[in-house]
Amino acid sequence: MTKVILDKHKRDWWKSAAFYEIYPKSFQDTTGSGTGDLKGILSRLDYLEKLGIDAIWLCPVCASPQVDNGYDISDFRDIDPIYGTMADMEVLIAEAGKRGIGILVDLTLNHSSSEHFWFREALKSRDNPYHDYYIWRDGDGSVPPNDMRAAFGGSAWTYVPELGQWYFHQFAVEQPDLNWDNPRLRRELYDMMNFWADKGVAGFRLDVIDQIAKDPDRKITANGPRLHEFFRELSREALSREGLVSVGEAWGADPERARLYSAPDGSELSMVFQFEHICLDQQSGGEKWDLAPLSLPRLKECFRRWQQELYGTGWNSLFFNNHDLPRIVSRWGDDGVYRTQSAKMLATMLHGMQGTPFIYQGEELGMTNIRLELEQYQDLESLNLFRERTAQGYDPQDVMRSIRARGRDNARTPMQWTAGENAGFTTGTPWLPVNENHRFLNAEAELADPDSVFHYYRRLIALRKQYDVFRDGRFTLLCPEDPQVFAYTRDTDAAHMLVVCNFSGAEAAFSLPEAFRHAETLIANYPGEPDTLRPWEARILYHE
Ligand code: GLC
Repeated sequence: MTKVILDKHKRDWWKSAAFYEIYPKSFQDTTGSGTGDLKGILSRLDYLEKLGIDAIWLCPVCASPQVDNGYDISDFRDIDPIYGTMADMEVLIAEAGKRGIGILVDLTLNHSSSEHFWFREALKSRDNPYHDYYIWRDGDGSVPPNDMRAAFGGSAWTYVPELGQWYFHQFAVEQPDLNWDNPRLRRELYDMMNFWADKGVAGFRLDVIDQIAKDPDRKITANGPRLHEFFRELSREALSREGLVSVGEAWGADPERARLYSAPDGSELSMVFQFEHICLDQQSGGEKWDLAPLSLPRLKECFRRWQQELYGTGWNSLFFNNHDLPRIVSRWGDDGVYRTQSAKMLATMLHGMQGTPFIYQGEELGMTNIRLELEQYQDLESLNLFRERTAQGYDPQDVMRSIRARGRDNARTPMQWTAGENAGFTTGTPWLPVNENHRFLNAEAELADPDSVFHYYRRLIALRKQYDVFRDGRFTLLCPEDPQVFAYTRDTDAAHMLVVCNFSGAEAAFSLPEAFRHAETLIANYPGEPDTLRPWEARILYHE
């Protein structure tokens, strides 16, 4: 099958596209430093082209002290030396472009690093022109302005005695929040985005973008009062160039809000990246660390709602994984005996829906979680959690169980290229341990095996471009209460598709709707079609 190359200047090209997320630190090292780099990505473009993806969401590569692995940016217009140079970036954009692959730069418009020039100036005095680029409240240092907590632990306020003021940060102390109420700050950000557009990027992934319009005095961080005004301005000033795609990370979005964020007229963003489905296996009222089993009927209802409520009125991304989430095959599949089957089932279930799929590096191989000891974890979120929860009296074993199940380092272990030393990721010492299972789970082995998870993803991506029903079909959920089977149809006037997935390791009953009795199988993870579904079986049927 020849690859369909989408014209990135065509409006809405991203609706038929597949995106691939790269966490550069863990993708491919070319210097022996133990950390991935831009030249490493360049060296793997052929692999990505083979997979058939259309765009790369490149996690932050801008200059950064790396407190939060690059999500603390100290210069939005420069490349961090651990990753290479601006010249490397330009070559990457050009070479990816030749293969029909666009690059999305990941920007943290909500905050900067405390090492950013703006913040260092802001610290100098209250009347420094950059002071108001951040959010300050007066005080004597004894009690913070309120009890808001930062996402990575501790208070959301840090005191600067020299100024007699607290600054606001939703994440680490080293990630001060930017003050979007200041029009000069907004102008700087749009100019910076245009700088990247001039370099030829295909668009942007916008980090925690629904948190930019905050009102900390009223404890509002997500979906603040001026959010849509800011989105519309941002779209006008920095996105309206033909075809620039914007993916907005929005933890607080519901379908109603998402419709505005991703309105088809392009007045705000191209699509939302929301997390409702991926938060269903936590205790209600708890955090992601408070583990609970997944209820399949709830998961189905969640997808149904998003699929139907955004139909024709907005656009969603489709994902199970990213650099902040544990590996899906370990989470909702089976990372033992049925690893391959369950990885393919999960991909089928997701890619059959409407939206733009995001494949996170290694997901296309069925990569799994890793089991580490506390000292081996690198992520500040997990380390802070262990400190905070054990101080509060939690059992350390329970905290470790949560970290092993949900910690972000699960996703961040080096990409598994070969069965060789360090999985072919580096000739040095990897910054985070390589998963031992690279001996049998690696790209080289999967490329050589036509039945691998890799080739399954490749076929799914190609099918999505070949059949318009993936992009346009209306979604109908079948058997909503069934505790094992996730099945749905997608229909246009011209074509009909049935996606049926056994979301369990036991056999499951499913009676095929009459209309699909003689339908064509587009893809399946088992041969033959017996009456019952085998463990983790998945199949897409099609008729016109
Ligand atoms: C987003 C990123 C995450 C980061 C946080 C703060 O959620 O995906 O990795 O730590 O924002 O920038």
